[in-house]
Amino acid sequence: MSLTVAIDGPAAAGKGTIARAVAAHFGFAHLDTGLLYRAVGKRTLEGKDALEAAETLQPEHYADAEALRSPDVAQAASVVAAMPEIRTALVNFQRAFARRQGGAVLDGRDIGTVICPDAEVKLFVTASDAIRAERRHKELVGKGHQVTLEEVAHDLAERDRRDAARATAPMTAAEDALLLDTSALDIEAAVARAVEEVGKKVGM
Ligand code: CDP
Repeated sequence: MSLTVAIDGPAAAGKGTIARAVAAHFGFAHLDTGLLYRAVGKRTLEGKDALEAAETLQPEHYADAEALRSPDVAQAASVVAAMPEIRTALVNFQRAFARRQGGAVLDGRDIGTVICPDAEVKLFVTASDAIRAERRHKELVGKGHQVTLEEVAHDLAERDRRDAARATAPMTAAEDALLLDTSALDIEAAVARAVEEVGKKVGM
């Protein structure tokens, strides 16, 4: 059985948490596609050419997710993510993952629109700017990053603007995506809503 759950949305809206929980609930594989762009971005910060970094990307480059979750890597990710040739270099891997046997959950910006327009379930996860900044600030400070709430809010706004404005695969909700605003939901409630939606499709 192949079944794809596409979860998109702006930075720090809760996509990753929801995607992981949905995958665990149904026994599906999970791919955080942001890590691919973050890994390419990190390699450019280390001096590598962006296209070469994307074309030679190996699992070991995105295995250490924590090392990729810094604010400077996030910015570098959103810069390389606006380059059409970088996105093209990463398409096949994502599509193959989406159609693997046993079900797959992918989270990102363009999964329901470009990578898997035929995904059986599509969610577009949002939350207010203030809530997203607060959540990400707490997460980064908890990991020892020295950042202010204002800096985090600025980083998210800048990335969202770049991600939504780019010509290739801009961040946008697919027409058939369910909009899930997590501003007023705690993690359990947001996950329960997503699980309910996927459950309707898989009959579980
Ligand atoms: O965790 P957060 O929501 O802050 O970001 P992420 O999902 O790790 O993605 C980092 C950056 O990669 C985004 O700001 C996008 O520029 C880019 N990205 C993308 O363009 N397409 C995707 N499918 C996933 C991420």
